[in-house]
Amino acid sequence: MEFIRDNADWFYLIGAVLFIMTLRGLSGPKTAIQGNRYGMIAMAIAVLTTFFVAENPVIWMIVGAMAAGAVVGIARAKTVPMTQMPETVALMHSLVGLAAVLIAVAAILHNNKLLEIGAEALTANNISFHAMSKVHLFELFVGCFVGAITFTASVFAYGKLAAKKWAKTISGAWVKPLQALIFIAMLAAGIYFFLTGNMTSFWAMTGLALVFGWVWIAPVGGGDMPVVVSLLNSFSGWAAAGIGFTLENNMLIVAGSLVGSSGAILSYIMCKAMNRSIINVLFGGTMGAAAAPAAGGGAQVQRNHRSGSADDAGFLMSNADSVVIVPGYGMAQGRAQNAVKELANTLKEQGVTVRFAIHPVAGRMPGHMNVLLAEADVPYEDILEMDEINSDFPATDVVLVIGANDVVNPAAKDDPSSPIYGMPILEAHKARTIMVIKRSMATGYAGLDNDLFYNDKTMMIFGDAKKVVEDMSKAINGTGH
Ligand code: TAP
Repeated sequence: MEFIRDNADWFYLIGAVLFIMTLRGLSGPKTAIQGNRYGMIAMAIAVLTTFFVAENPVIWMIVGAMAAGAVVGIARAKTVPMTQMPETVALMHSLVGLAAVLIAVAAILHNNKLLEIGAEALTANNISFHAMSKVHLFELFVGCFVGAITFTASVFAYGKLAAKKWAKTISGAWVKPLQALIFIAMLAAGIYFFLTGNMTSFWAMTGLALVFGWVWIAPVGGGDMPVVVSLLNSFSGWAAAGIGFTLENNMLIVAGSLVGSSGAILSYIMCKAMNRSIINVLFGGTMGAAAAPAAGGGAQVQRNHRSGSADDAGFLMSNADSVVIVPGYGMAQGRAQNAVKELANTLKEQGVTVRFAIHPVAGRMPGHMNVLLAEADVPYEDILEMDEINSDFPATDVVLVIGANDVVNPAAKDDPSSPIYGMPILEAHKARTIMVIKRSMATGYAGLDNDLFYNDKTMMIFGDAKKVVEDMSKAINGTGH
């Protein structure tokens, strides 16, 4: 125990290096499991060291809270389906935000209590006491309001993603002025607290920050929530770092900064891949909101398309030399990943080269397709990123698009009037034959029609992704070369 306390900084340094290795590991599917292991070790080191460093820890409270958290966390981790991952992550961020607020409140109340008892009495009795400096007040001010915004915004994001009735999208001309008003009032109260240490203004700032978190995110469309969740991930990191300064805990500062910066980078990557700015997503975008009803199955377009059966498609693919599979949100929605893997294996047995092409924002969360394909044990070397595979499409016999839409929409390249013009896409339209599995001609997330579906080289195969893919495998097994 003494040893850990005396060498706490060394343990924290090891933890920090392991956290950096965690992020490095998580950047690729092959190293992700190892990355997770580093993260678990780093977290264990951080928690244990902090436990021993604490002055007079109330053991039953700490162990009790950890045990309760572990029970809930393990139960949730074991049961959560992949499709509910984004909302679960949002809920977890809300807890980081809440923790930041509670720690800031506790630090201030504790300090006020000490002031009441009297600093002199404390010093006389050899109890360490430092009056709060301006820097300290500033850290609390920032940590608390960022934490409060993160908390309510994340709860809203959770509600929206889980389709809860109380998470209603708000719209109207009054929204932006209201947001601005609350934000300014919140800042004013925070600055007053910073200048005077006045507790009423502290409570006002915290309350207003909680309200602001809600009204800030409530106008954002459901489809844009993954970007918001990633941004809130970043916020929760900065809130934790701010609180790390309050608690004088280097580990929390480092870990919070890592989460804060990696979340910000991820949000940037997602926006770039969607050809939108973060400002547009947060303050101007209606893309997801407009698309949501259409994606359910409406928006029929009267143009000619060619459709075929799973048997036709199976026959064509088994006679091809190369097949590239483009999975999208529909594969996740239809839970078709295992059937898709079986289809790939079946085709390989027939001597066909099969590869997977992954768009950075296919699906609804970062790495969505990679995670599903990894879950189905698709070999990593068969999975190629957009930049790696795009030049291969013209020489590909068959592209099989499974529940993808926007990420293969040629309008992003050809139509300057399209809202997604400029978004990088998988150039499936350049392949010799294109097959698309989806349930109808409905639009995807962006709510846009897709010329690929009306291309002369395209065959639409209507139906649920899993069922159609299974039927294709059956057809191929019955056909052979
Ligand atoms: P989408 O463009 O949303 O298209 C998915 C298609 O799957 C739909 O057109 C739908 O058509 C079909 N589908 C749904 N359920 C199906 C099922 N059970 N079986 C077969 N088909 C099914 O998906 P995408 O191409 O993957 O593009 C992702 C979109 O989400 C992009 O616009 C991206 O910007 C956006 N986005 C992504 C992220 C991240 S991080 N991935 C975050 C926010 C937004 P039917 O209804 O006709 O079946």
